[in-house]
Amino acid sequence: MCGIVGYIGTKQAAPIILDGLEKLEYRGYDSAGMAVYDGKKINITKSVGRLKVLENLTHGGETLPGVCGIGHTRWATHGAPSDTNAHPHFNKDETITVVHNGIIENYIHLRQMLTDKGYEFVSDTDTEVLAHLLDYYYKGNPLEAVTKVLHRVEGSYALGILFADCPDQIFATRKDSPLIVGQSKEGCFIASDVPAILKYTRKVYYVDNQEVVRLRADHMHFYTVDEEEIQKEPVTIEWDADAAEKAGYEHFMLKEMYEQPKTVTDTLMPRIKDDDIVIDELNMTDGELAAIRKIHIVACGSAYHAGVTGKYVIEGLARIPVEVDLASEFRYRNPILEEGAMVVVISQSGETADTLAALRESKARGFKVLGIVNVVGSSIAREADNVMYTWAGPEIAVATTKAYSAQLIALYLLAVKLGRVRGGIDDQMFSSLLADLKCLPDQIEMLLNNKQKIQKFANRYVGARDVFFIGRGIDYAISLEGSLKLKEISYIHSEAYAAGELKHGTISLIEEGTLVAAVSTQPDLYAKTISNMVEVKARGAFVLAVTCEENKAIEKAADYVIYIPETNPYFANSLAIIPLQLFGYYVAVGKGCDVDKPRNLAKSVTVE
Ligand code: G6P
Repeated sequence: MCGIVGYIGTKQAAPIILDGLEKLEYRGYDSAGMAVYDGKKINITKSVGRLKVLENLTHGGETLPGVCGIGHTRWATHGAPSDTNAHPHFNKDETITVVHNGIIENYIHLRQMLTDKGYEFVSDTDTEVLAHLLDYYYKGNPLEAVTKVLHRVEGSYALGILFADCPDQIFATRKDSPLIVGQSKEGCFIASDVPAILKYTRKVYYVDNQEVVRLRADHMHFYTVDEEEIQKEPVTIEWDADAAEKAGYEHFMLKEMYEQPKTVTDTLMPRIKDDDIVIDELNMTDGELAAIRKIHIVACGSAYHAGVTGKYVIEGLARIPVEVDLASEFRYRNPILEEGAMVVVISQSGETADTLAALRESKARGFKVLGIVNVVGSSIAREADNVMYTWAGPEIAVATTKAYSAQLIALYLLAVKLGRVRGGIDDQMFSSLLADLKCLPDQIEMLLNNKQKIQKFANRYVGARDVFFIGRGIDYAISLEGSLKLKEISYIHSEAYAAGELKHGTISLIEEGTLVAAVSTQPDLYAKTISNMVEVKARGAFVLAVTCEENKAIEKAADYVIYIPETNPYFANSLAIIPLQLFGYYVAVGKGCDVDKPRNLAKSVTVE
């Protein structure tokens, strides 16, 4: 949700912190701030608005001297975006400062307790209690103060803390919010995510829940919440810093859409060996896989939409019943998990609070959880029993594209594997499915290369008020994601409907010229969806159809048609989503929206 960076070393801290925060702006961008120790005291500069404002205020960090500092880019939860609510926050005599990602759930109680003791609060944030609580517990030993605070606070947090009394140290800790630390010859770093420090070091340590790190310029020490020192092994980050750069594209979203052929290949090909599907990460024998009686897929946002597709594909190919839940619902609905059930959680970031809670709930009930996760070493990846990574690399644009595409592939592999071991897929069908899977990267590339047609069409809808997406079966799942892409980045109201359901109320919203995007890739459902297209057209809708090449007859019912190449209908989502992603993107660009950082959103939602 928020991004944290800290640096202590031999260089000026502020420019390094700003540089790191820029890589983390996807985590939140309503305000930003930095605290740097200048040799005598801690100076804070912070401001509402994008990171650019902070950069201008500090002349790229130059006006904040010092070699030890922490910074923050915020996605507001408690307290509106404002200068005062921006982080870092100070204690009363400005000797302790803190940046925080997450939510302190018992902050009202703590605030009252501190107010009773004479502490005065200046902001509306939950974070400010941490600064005062640290002050309350600080008696000359900063590590002791930090651990005492950890014993008092409830909720989720990643923290960077600076004590003016100990300017040669930064403290960092976390619980259920991501935090890594890294070391280079020039100093030590803390960050919410790897790209923030990848320019400086590839050697990082993943901080575990309630561990505390004391960073100095040339070394760091790790402690338990009971102040016992612990040893940790560093992890070397393999991927390239360039992966988190725009590489000449106008937006990260466009770049990431263009990376989809590679993402699909990278997620697919390592799991196809000798004309078989081998998913070692499942750690299950064919017999164990065949014995699965039910699958629960749990996720949020686009990952949930991938899960809806997964339901159709797994049920169709493997004949295993699948329930798909929004994680925020699953965790509180006391779900019925029966013997033989398998839980699959899907998450790009691996940090989504609700998905993580669903994982824990399932594990607590004794069920094994498979995580389909993109970010290596993330909380979900570490807590799931087994992890099937989607090899999409860092995804920066808030609206997901390539990670979603990779999630689809992971689900297809699982579905075909399960269908195979359960005997529902014979040799011929298996070879044909594998052949179709292998064609997907080139087919996606082809669709991307034909982007002009959709771009031209999108330009006509820059002024649209409402857009509807309809489809049946897998086409409905595609519609859900197509609609989300449009609304999240262009702010145009949009809804996805199961095509047969539209007439039960929502059709009353169709007016002369309303755009209805009809997805029709499923041969068994063509005729039915065409009837629904005709229904909306009769009420004045302009119909955009996304369909397969062989379905030319659709031109009679649609006003504009985008064709996708031939594939197995179970895999059609991977192709049909491409023009819909492009559509959302070009409408947003046409409207002049901030495509990579849409208002009110954040990429990684580490709060409920
Ligand atoms: C946020 C993002 C969405 C994403 C969802 C789930 O809402 O803006 O793009 O689909 O979280 O995120 P996850 O990291 O768990 O896939």
